[in-house]
Amino acid sequence: MGGLRRLEYRGYDSGGVAIVDTAATTPTIAWAKKAGKLANLQGVLDEQPLPPSSTGIGHTRWATHGAPNDVNAHPHLDADGRIAVVHNGIIENFAVLRAELEAEGHELVSETDTEVVAHLLHDELERTPDLGEAVRLVCRRLEGAFTLVIADAAQPDVVVGARRNSPLVVGRGDGENFLGSDVAAFIEYTRDAIELGQDQVVVITADDVEVTGFDGSPAEVTPYHVDWDVSAAEKGGYDWYMLKEIDEQPQAVADTLLGRHTPDGRLQLDEMRLSDDELREIDKIIIIACGTASYAGLVAKYAIEHWTRVPCEVELASEFRYRDPIIDPRTLVVAISQSGETMDTLMALRYARQQRARVLSICNTNGSTIPRESDAVIYTHAGPEIAVASTKGFLAQIVACYLLGLYLAQVKGTKYGDEIAAIIGELEKIPAGIQRMLDDAPRVRKLAADLVDARSVLFLGRHTGYPVALEGALKLKELAYLHAEGFAAGELKHGPIALIEEGVPVFVVVPPKARDQLQDKVVSNIQEVRSRGARTIVLVEDGDDDVLSAADEVIRLPKVPTLLQPLVATVPLQVFACELATLLGHDVDQPRNLAKSVTVE
Ligand code: AGP
Repeated sequence: MGGLRRLEYRGYDSGGVAIVDTAATTPTIAWAKKAGKLANLQGVLDEQPLPPSSTGIGHTRWATHGAPNDVNAHPHLDADGRIAVVHNGIIENFAVLRAELEAEGHELVSETDTEVVAHLLHDELERTPDLGEAVRLVCRRLEGAFTLVIADAAQPDVVVGARRNSPLVVGRGDGENFLGSDVAAFIEYTRDAIELGQDQVVVITADDVEVTGFDGSPAEVTPYHVDWDVSAAEKGGYDWYMLKEIDEQPQAVADTLLGRHTPDGRLQLDEMRLSDDELREIDKIIIIACGTASYAGLVAKYAIEHWTRVPCEVELASEFRYRDPIIDPRTLVVAISQSGETMDTLMALRYARQQRARVLSICNTNGSTIPRESDAVIYTHAGPEIAVASTKGFLAQIVACYLLGLYLAQVKGTKYGDEIAAIIGELEKIPAGIQRMLDDAPRVRKLAADLVDARSVLFLGRHTGYPVALEGALKLKELAYLHAEGFAAGELKHGPIALIEEGVPVFVVVPPKARDQLQDKVVSNIQEVRSRGARTIVLVEDGDDDVLSAADEVIRLPKVPTLLQPLVATVPLQVFACELATLLGHDVDQPRNLAKSVTVE
């Protein structure tokens, strides 16, 4: 259960376990499953414990096919109760397979695509007694994305895993081996892991790990050592992972910068597998990402275009491949993903590669699918992000994008070395700026308490403040389940201003004073909403007092260059959303309807 708990962030609408009961006269599968969070499953197991066993599988689910209820919870068994299967992903041809099975007389009890696999395996094992081979044969019939883990009462010492598109990692212990969708599942037992490749099947016993392709050919595997320890993946004394992760942001930013430049400010990116010649050819950049990661991309656009003079578009990954985008080998497609497993982003990336673009990913999860399928990668070093709402992942993504922009500027010569060194110098001061915002968190929490009855909250920003406004609104939506919207402040008069009524809280991110013209315009926007009854909460840099007369509340920001302001301005908005959600009694780490890693399209 410990391993499952550490995976609960990936999905938590039901959970289940199955073990091979070898104490029975004939080994059988014993299982338990329950809708809701793992605590519910634990309740069932406390009342009716499963017999001890050294072979078992477990699952925590985020529903795709079938409602989140007890019957649809995994594991799923074949009709004889001999085989137990857990599954992540979607089997796209399951309806055809199910119809075939039903025509042959199989009775399926759930609405899931997973149960089909248990029944297919049942039939296959009658022809092909070896579980590994039977799984390979069944996998060849499946379409879509899947990670499968299977136990068979007739082969009690073996667990078999298979993966296509969805993640699966092997943990190598001493006299014990593990499978998990990520290393958090087994990190308390071993930090030695093996990445499974695309279309591979793994057969583990206590002492052995055998990996093959779906065709049975032996596969080359890449073992690696995991640096995270158990405590890094746990809450460390905070009420919520999110709070811990918000507080880890100075470190996340510092670590992402670490080792990426020489003392004189020359960029060096070890995982940049694209040559300088290839990068010099790039004449267009397209950033693809989802949710918060896409807002990191929007922030990056301002910096990348400014530093490199290369046009940079930002596109939601889910829209990208459906609009016939103009891509060629001179296009650099940048996929941003904390988890490295977001299916929309992965599919957009694959599409870009088919169109012969060069693909670079910015990712926080070593060994995940998106960086593995990219030509180059810049890892963010934020450490594991467990809370569904991304915080440190976001800031680290912005920093990694800046590193990319500066690296391109260095290679293309669009910035002098001393200019790049100066920007790096400013970036290195950012962790202290974030820390200051964290020290100021109690004031923001008090503000959340004052606004706990708000029914709608608006966020305004211009330039890099615009994506910050979008991110502030997204945090509030996903955590506090409140109507919240972010706008470019200049758009206000084109419609959104009609939303302003007495007492509506409006957060405004004011650009640094250095951006005179922009600043004046934002000050006018603040006045416009305030005169219509809004309660204005203004985020403005130290020493800038021009907005004070129009501000009901002021949140001070340290003075930083405009392009870097999102790295400090986002922090109070995260704190605000987290506190408001806590006051409203919501589960901050696992908001309703959401999953940390969205591995379906
Ligand atoms: C952020 O708070 C969200 N939970 C979500 O928007 C997330 O950023 C998005 O799903 C992308 O995830 P990724 O970075 O793992 O690809």
